[in-house]
Amino acid sequence: MNFRDDSSNRINYDSDGSINDNFHRPYEPLKGLRVLDVGCGGGVLSESLANLGADVVAIDPSVSIVEKAQDISTSSNNHRCNGRVEYFGGTSVEDLVIKCKDNDDNGFDVVCVLEVIEHVSSENQQGLLKAASSLLRISDKNEHKDGDEGGGIMFVSTINRTPKSFAMTILGAECIMRYLPVGTHDWNKYLSPDEVSGMVKDFGMDVVDVSGMTLRPPFFNEMNWRLQADDTDVNWIGAYSFSSCNN
Ligand SMILES: C[S@@+](CC[C@H](N)C(=O)[O-])C[C@H]1O[C@@H](n2cnc3c(N)ncnc32)[C@H](O)[C@@H]1O
Repeated sequence: MNFRDDSSNRINYDSDGSINDNFHRPYEPLKGLRVLDVGCGGGVLSESLANLGADVVAIDPSVSIVEKAQDISTSSNNHRCNGRVEYFGGTSVEDLVIKCKDNDDNGFDVVCVLEVIEHVSSENQQGLLKAASSLLRISDKNEHKDGDEGGGIMFVSTINRTPKSFAMTILGAECIMRYLPVGTHDWNKYLSPDEVSGMVKDFGMDVVDVSGMTLRPPFFNEMNWRLQADDTDVNWIGAYSFSSCNN
């Protein structure tokens, strides 16, 4: 896993599906993977992952926001992902851990915790990540198949706690541009990549990769985001897996 892989640009050339459309095949690189979207909100990520072929479980403690996500999902012409996202409103990741305790579920191949931890109290951030990680599939060495990389992988994205992030996400996006309601973010809850690495290492995970996500000007109309490995000053994303010695 490397967010910096240049070949992704070349692969993206096909991501509009032109080759697959030509041969009437859906572009489904995530087919066969079970993904958990923690704090799915309006379901944007869940639907995108399902469109790429994943079977997605999408949870959020908010009932109303998940109802909206379901409405959009069923009313849109989203035939490809229809049926591939199971939404559970009123469900936190901690609730899901309790529900899954007594079943024989193998766990999820991928768990996404994107833009969630900066909305959780500082005392609960590590607990949330630990709960999310406990839902990952654990590598079973006896069933290790060729091409199977072992245990599952957790993705976390959040905002770094820097002067620049204060200027951009709170002063800029909330107070000046009003893209978000004032008070959406609390700068004190932002976390650096090192802080999240420290948290997950405490319960046995390793860092697989970390990359910044930056916004290119102009900062209005269509937002133009890109991965920029060495700039984690504001938005960033990381991938984490359990150390092989723990599996
Ligand atoms: C800013 S939204 C992010 C939505 C989505 N992940 C995205 O990136 O577009 C944060 C969401 O996290 C949810 N959330 C907060 N605490 C949670 C928890 N303990 N378990 C699951 N979701 C949680 C909130 O209800 C909210 O909908």
